[in-house]
Amino acid sequence: MTPFIAPSILAADFARLGDEVNAVLDAGADIIHFDVMDNHYVPNLSVGPLVLDSLRKHGITAPMDVHLMVKPVDRLVGDFIESGANIISVHPEATEHLHRTLSVIRDAGVQPGIVFNPATPLTVLAEVIELVDLVLIMSVNPGFGGQKFIPQSLDKLAQARAMIDASGREIRLEIDGGIKTENIALAAAAGADTFVAGSAIFGSADYRETITAMKAEIASQRASG
Ligand code: DX5
Ligand code: ZN
Repeated sequence: MTPFIAPSILAADFARLGDEVNAVLDAGADIIHFDVMDNHYVPNLSVGPLVLDSLRKHGITAPMDVHLMVKPVDRLVGDFIESGANIISVHPEATEHLHRTLSVIRDAGVQPGIVFNPATPLTVLAEVIELVDLVLIMSVNPGFGGQKFIPQSLDKLAQARAMIDASGREIRLEIDGGIKTENIALAAAAGADTFVAGSAIFGSADYRETITAMKAEIASQRASG
């Protein structure tokens, strides 16, 4: 699968969000990672479907990868479907009926994703692998940008890779948290094909240079592996 770089808007300048999103897309970003936090499931508050609506109205047509860190998650799923999300990922802890939540997303023609926290085992994946188009492995505890990458998540990535390959389905494997140019090759080696980066991209002086360097790291890992 073609590797995707997914800048997380959480690290963008929210006063200029539309321009920031256009800037990372111009700089080579493949999809936009849209982090939604509720001060309940995670100890932080970010943005809701209204902001996604605004970005669409601003003319942004790029795929929107919505990462829901809200509990309960079900009511907001409908709002994000209407706002034009392309991927909607949910944490199994945030819904009483994961199979139903993923089915609602799929039936609406949106790609469902499942997210695993550092301490959440992958076991539930086997039960819903036929329903998901994306598996997201958290390499930090969700809630904040700019945290340090947790190295144990590489093992989980590799386990998820094996499960996805065994399923024979086209499922993206995404890594989220603490990804930088310096460690992105490790995540690629462990099987990730979709890479979220917030602070490493939006905190850099030159978005294009950073995204290009990230893509080069992934390409050289793939060539050597
Ligand atoms: C954390 C979010 C991440 C975060 C990534 O809860 O899901 O997407 O914004 O930020 P960095 O790349 O700075 O770790
Ligand atoms: Zn995220």
